[in-house]
Amino acid sequence: MADTATHQNDAAPFEDPLDIATRRYYFKPMAAFFNAFHLRAFKTADIQWKAPVLDVGCSDGEYGVMLAEALGPPGEMIGIDLSAEAIQQAGEKARALYKEMICANATALPFDDESFHTVVSNASMLSIDPGLDRALREVHRVLKPGGSFYASVCTDQYEQNYWITRLLKGLGCTGWARRYMDAMNRRMQQAHLYAPDRWVALFEAGGFEVKQHFGFLPLSHTPLWSFLAWTPLRLHGIVKLIPCAPLHRGLSALYKKWFGGIYRRTALKLPPEQCGYIFIEAVKP
Ligand SMILES: C[S@@+](CC[C@H](N)C(=O)[O-])C[C@H]1O[C@@H](n2cnc3c(N)ncnc32)[C@H](O)[C@@H]1O
Repeated sequence: MADTATHQNDAAPFEDPLDIATRRYYFKPMAAFFNAFHLRAFKTADIQWKAPVLDVGCSDGEYGVMLAEALGPPGEMIGIDLSAEAIQQAGEKARALYKEMICANATALPFDDESFHTVVSNASMLSIDPGLDRALREVHRVLKPGGSFYASVCTDQYEQNYWITRLLKGLGCTGWARRYMDAMNRRMQQAHLYAPDRWVALFEAGGFEVKQHFGFLPLSHTPLWSFLAWTPLRLHGIVKLIPCAPLHRGLSALYKKWFGGIYRRTALKLPPEQCGYIFIEAVKP
């Protein structure tokens, strides 16, 4: 794969993550809320898109598209995901962004050693089960020396702060709380919820040097996020089927206004142990 220039995120006045996420997810407020913070973490970390870039667990490529809107285009980018169905759902923008989207297992990446300058993994290392250790070693193998690995993962405290978990535990129903956490984690494909220090140790065991890690979604926001993800509210997705652009724009504006205060009041980098999700920047020495 040919080397290309580094694409820095200060190259142009790219859109604010809250605008990007609320515009994209007018039909799914929990994704709008989460992705505003998620995209902002990648921006805050000042990640350097040095192509070629590999996106591990790219799904339908929508997160990659939003990341490119927030940071600028990455140059050559390839995505892999275990789910052929997710890749098939890729829209026009994702197909234009990714040079290829390949159905493959992160535990056996179909690339030569030292093929990529950058690897991103957006909320996907936490899904790799079995084989998380193997996947980390594979990312290390396909990165060039000095290459960067940027990942977001959830912590052990995340599930403890879903609003229904809190409610059930408050009522003394710890067994039901555990069942609820398991069901939510299955739905969100979260197999690994570890303390931040354990995540850092896992990355180090994979051969990486962790340059920085910080929290971006505080535990105090988890009840609201999980309320937005509450099953009855999923009915809201119906608006996607209504072909009415002003309605879609109106909903985006509503969510932007609703989430805007909390978004602006939240520090850009938070202590990892106070957060449900953390960002990790690791380097292959
Ligand atoms: C929570 S989703 C995140 C998707 C996307 N990165 C995003 O930010 O929207 C986790 C993704 O990891 C993928 N995944 C899980 N196990 C995998 C594996 N062993 N190899 C490759 N992809 C995997 C899933 O199919 C899913 O698309």
